Amino acid sequence: MKHVKKTVTVAAVALTLGLASGLTFASVTDQVPADAKGVTNPVEADDEDVLKAAKKVYKKKCKKCHGKKGNGKGPGAKDMEPSPPDWTGGIDATDGELFWLTMNGSKDTEMKGWKEGSAKAGKEITDEQAWSLVHYMRSLVK
Ligand code: HEC
Repeated sequence: MKHVKKTVTVAAVALTLGLASGLTFASVTDQVPADAKGVTNPVEADDEDVLKAAKKVYKKKCKKCHGKKGNGKGPGAKDMEPSPPDWTGGIDATDGELFWLTMNGSKDTEMKGWKEGSAKAGKEITDEQAWSLVHYMRSLVK
């Protein structure tokens, strides 16, 4: 009977691990620390210049994966797993979550963070640019 018990234990452990990882990364925003989720965007949303400046940064640093229209189909995202999200149908994340993911990246994916120390030297973006990009992402929703 000993090996039956062992099999049951192994199955239980596998199930627990599977459930735990499934629950932890069910959504890309689950990895955002609780205190970062509700932070308010300090940059004005209805400022033309903000969107213009953000578009420039987006074209240079985000477009190749996220796509010109934000549909996640940039030329650099072919066969990427997970693939970048399609923002055009709506964004199911708070400003704080979008900001945090922009700066810190998404664990174990091609989405690398853009804050100082995460991005390559000279490529990092400022907090203001990231918050402006959050407005730009929302402007891509059709
Ligand atoms: C090399 C490809 C690549 C580049 C460049 C890139 N991303 Fe991403 N991004 C991804 C991928 C892939 C994901 C999906 C990650 C996941 O599902 O865990 C993602 C996810 C995200 C998310 C979280 C998704 C969501 O809707 O909550 C945000 C926010 C984001 N990217 C912002 C940006 C911004 C802003 C830039 C430019 C400054 C950028 N990314 C550049 C590949 C990229």
